[in-house]
Amino acid sequence: RKNDRESMMIVNSFAQKYFSEKLFQSEEGIAVGMSYLRERGFREDIIKKFQVGFCLDSWNAFSEQATQSGYKKEFLVKTGLSIDKEKGMIDRFKGRVIFPIHGIAGRTLGFGGRILKKDPKAAKYLNSPESEVYHKSRILYGIYQAKKSIVQNDKCYLVEGYTDVLSFHQAGIENVVASSGTALTADQIRLVKRFSNNMTIIYDGDPAGIKASLRGIDLVLEQELNVKVLLLPDGEDPDSFSRTMGSTELTQYIEKNETDFIVFKTNLLLADAKNDPVKRANLIIDIVRSIAIIPDNIVRSVYVKECSNILNVDERVLYTEINKIKGRLQ
Ligand code: CTP
Ligand code: MN
Ligand code: MN
Ligand code: MN
Ligand code: MN
Repeated sequence: RKNDRESMMIVNSFAQKYFSEKLFQSEEGIAVGMSYLRERGFREDIIKKFQVGFCLDSWNAFSEQATQSGYKKEFLVKTGLSIDKEKGMIDRFKGRVIFPIHGIAGRTLGFGGRILKKDPKAAKYLNSPESEVYHKSRILYGIYQAKKSIVQNDKCYLVEGYTDVLSFHQAGIENVVASSGTALTADQIRLVKRFSNNMTIIYDGDPAGIKASLRGIDLVLEQELNVKVLLLPDGEDPDSFSRTMGSTELTQYIEKNETDFIVFKTNLLLADAKNDPVKRANLIIDIVRSIAIIPDNIVRSVYVKECSNILNVDERVLYTEINKIKGRLQ
């Protein structure tokens, strides 16, 4: 088992170097992959920092090369780099730009591959399958490149995607990781907690991103981190948004517009509830539910006070509700 894991990581390391070499040195890689990345505005130093690569648009160029170099079929298939077909092995990431996914120690555990052309039938991103070394729910994209900065700033930005992470680094903000989609997990939050207790969620400014932010808040609170949210303008994600401004401007924008979870949730729900008393009551219950999740008594009491002010509800009423919920949780 342990040997399998090691063998898989060795194959991943080979693949990472192979894809990177193709991006920088092959005719196709330069003409197709590198052009794509340049057009999106990614700088070469960032591409190198994240070891971005390219998989040739061939059925099995990678699998062939790997086999010839002595890598075993078993591990090529287990890592998902190759797919076993009757005709032989084919390349999972054919024709895609490759984002290696590193563990905390910097080893390549898996890959994400982005399609280059618009094709409604194909997935925009393909990821390595679950395996001994790659557990999507336990990995945060960018943690290796971010950990030092997370400690230095005592704060971590959480975004959705690979390109969001790259663009923040390009803008000079390095304390950023991606959940690779909106399905944030407790394990991922615990990974951040090794380095800081402060997280700001910056998901895409679309309904899915907002919904995921609300869900993320409760998960982060459960793990005893402080959580803020930055809601981006409609249709923007951290990648597109960070390109509209310079580094200083971006940092200032974030610091000015990130809001404590309670303010975010209240504003969002209040806008929906307006003066409808039933909706307002539900809103209060919803927020109280989030507060009840917070394990620490002192932290919880601070939020009760804040919530009481914003919603103009007596603190005692809130505590009664919280105790009801906590009773149910036990
Ligand atoms: N994702 C995925 N599979 C998909 C779509 C998305 O794994 N079919 C993950 C990827 O990690 C992606 C993240 O979810 O980076 C966020 O998705 P999305 O916002 O749709 O993509 P972007 O990160 O904005 O990618 P791009 O800017 O390249 O379009
Ligand atoms: Mn395992
Ligand atoms: Mn999205
Ligand atoms: Mn996005
Ligand atoms: Mn994007």
